[in-house]
Amino acid sequence: MTLTKINSVNRNIVFSFPTLSELREHPKSVEIQRYLTEKLSPERYEHVISVQETAVALARCHNADLWKTSLAALLHDVAKWMSDDQLYNAVSLYKIELDPIEKIMPALLHAIVGVKYAIDLFEITDLDILEAIRCHTTGSASMGLTAKLIYVADFAEPKREYKEAAQVRLLAETDLDKAVHTVAQYKIEYLLQYGGIIHPNTINTYNSALVKTRKSNDRINLDVDENA
Ligand SMILES: [Fe+2]
Ligand SMILES: [Fe+2]
Repeated sequence: MTLTKINSVNRNIVFSFPTLSELREHPKSVEIQRYLTEKLSPERYEHVISVQETAVALARCHNADLWKTSLAALLHDVAKWMSDDQLYNAVSLYKIELDPIEKIMPALLHAIVGVKYAIDLFEITDLDILEAIRCHTTGSASMGLTAKLIYVADFAEPKREYKEAAQVRLLAETDLDKAVHTVAQYKIEYLLQYGGIIHPNTINTYNSALVKTRKSNDRINLDVDENA
């Protein structure tokens, strides 16, 4: 198998089931991995590698593009090494418009700045990969397959210590939308428990995935009266 022209991932190239090793040994992956090992803490780098392994395994279950999934996983935390000040400076430099919640939640910014870094440092132009980087923290109502895989794998990779990770990994093998819904639900429950701010995209992800899973899961009651 040959992986070529990775700078702009070509939809027409058929990647015939590359192994994880083949994905990791490609020059573009090596370039990204070299950057990440220099910039990220060893623990964060191990997380990224674990997200890659989890996401690629799930991509095989869902006939997703393995190369895109691998690149998106490697790049999802590409800006995670930056301090809050560095992130806000980058936002200013790139003239990124933040919403009111992003303005006060620096934890959300590495996903936004990460998109710019993926483009500028690694010449990534594929919109599915960029969406996956952008959405990996909050999700979004309209996530494509690659973005869903990274959103779930980031939450559920085996190095995550909370017990829900294993449950979500298993669920994601057969029902990715249900896994997305479950991740959003856990994030919302966690934020409510600790009095955190919930970004609207997290709510939108929860609602959107719930509607998508309704067809195959009639135990979900969508008719609950919020005003009752
Ligand atoms: Fe992240
Ligand atoms: Fe992550």
